[in-house]
Amino acid sequence: MSAIIDRTTAFCARFGLRLPILLAPMAGVPAPARSIAVANAGGLGACGALLMRPQEIAAWAGEMRAGSNGAFQVNLWIPDPPPQRDPAHEAHLRDFLGRFGPPVPAEAGDVTPPDFAAQCQALLAAGPAIVSSIMGLYPPAVIEQLKERGMAWFATVSTVAEARAAEAAGADVVVAQGMEAGGHRGAFDAALAERQQVGLMALLPAVADAVKVPVVATGGIADARGIAAALVLGASAVQIGTGFLRCPEAQISPAWADALAATPPEATMVSRAFSGRAGRSIATGYARAATAPDAPAPAPYPVQRGLTAPMRAAAQSAGDIERMQAWAGQSAALARAEPAGDLARRLWAEAQALLG
Ligand SMILES: Cc1cc2nc3c(=O)[nH]c(=O)nc-3n(C[C@H](O)[C@H](O)[C@H](O)COP(=O)(O)O)c2cc1C
Repeated sequence: MSAIIDRTTAFCARFGLRLPILLAPMAGVPAPARSIAVANAGGLGACGALLMRPQEIAAWAGEMRAGSNGAFQVNLWIPDPPPQRDPAHEAHLRDFLGRFGPPVPAEAGDVTPPDFAAQCQALLAAGPAIVSSIMGLYPPAVIEQLKERGMAWFATVSTVAEARAAEAAGADVVVAQGMEAGGHRGAFDAALAERQQVGLMALLPAVADAVKVPVVATGGIADARGIAAALVLGASAVQIGTGFLRCPEAQISPAWADALAATPPEATMVSRAFSGRAGRSIATGYARAATAPDAPAPAPYPVQRGLTAPMRAAAQSAGDIERMQAWAGQSAALARAEPAGDLARRLWAEAQALLG
């Protein structure tokens, strides 16, 4: 066990942590208060900046620093090539989605994500100690600037091949995301996200054997047993998403928070139904209907996200979980409605007890 504790201690010392627990970056659930609480407890705070404009990234970092001098990561998605549009199919999808929510306007699919190059500049300017990526690798010019500034790069990977590619590109840490994970799958190639689903139990030792950089485990970890197991399997630290969603600071819809507590592993599913990119959510009425054999195939990301926006907004207002975008990892039922700092401290104390 001492080798495991040594590995974890070295990781924490290198990244200014007192416990090896990383809050997962979660786009759409930015909640600085939750990051502040985790960082003040000695873990790593996080900002999922996918949907943020440059000034919002700067404001988030400012709020974080005002509340804590602890460490935090800012995370971006590496964009896919622009989607191929298919107006006739989108019309069919709009009709289908109109059965679950208000009529979907013709222009709903015209979604323009924030400019990635500008987001990267904002990320560099915000200057967190750690930046992370998902869905691919930062462009070489950005990696070069991260290195110049001494900012560490944590690259999310979902296969051994992606882990090798991330290390070769200069990642300081790889975050191995098992298929149990809530939210979007990090596959570099969107077309492989559903086909190449590797569970953390197999992925973690394989990635730890394949790369020399430290490995962070993520996906389905929400209690001390999962943390201890991940460290034994080769991780230096763990990253937890769904397990922090019921914390009061997260401020998610009560319907979503309550549903998480009642969701066994088999009641989550991976689909492209909400955004066009594969992600794991609660298997709600809409998610099941949208993946039925007779349902129209989802549009590519981010078109599908735009098309589902009216339904998701209506569901949010009505507190209707069946139509909500209720991301959830397979260990959702282990998530506790506990202040985030207390949760981080308790999880690590319990994991240490298990590790002896
Ligand atoms: C609501 C939600 C939003 C997420 N958004 C992001 C994101 O923007 N960037 C990212 O790298 N990962 C994102 N993830 C994935 C997490 O980083 C992590 O891989 C996942 O939460 C781990 O599985 P768990 O939820 O079972 O802990 C998100 C996860 C959830 C639940």
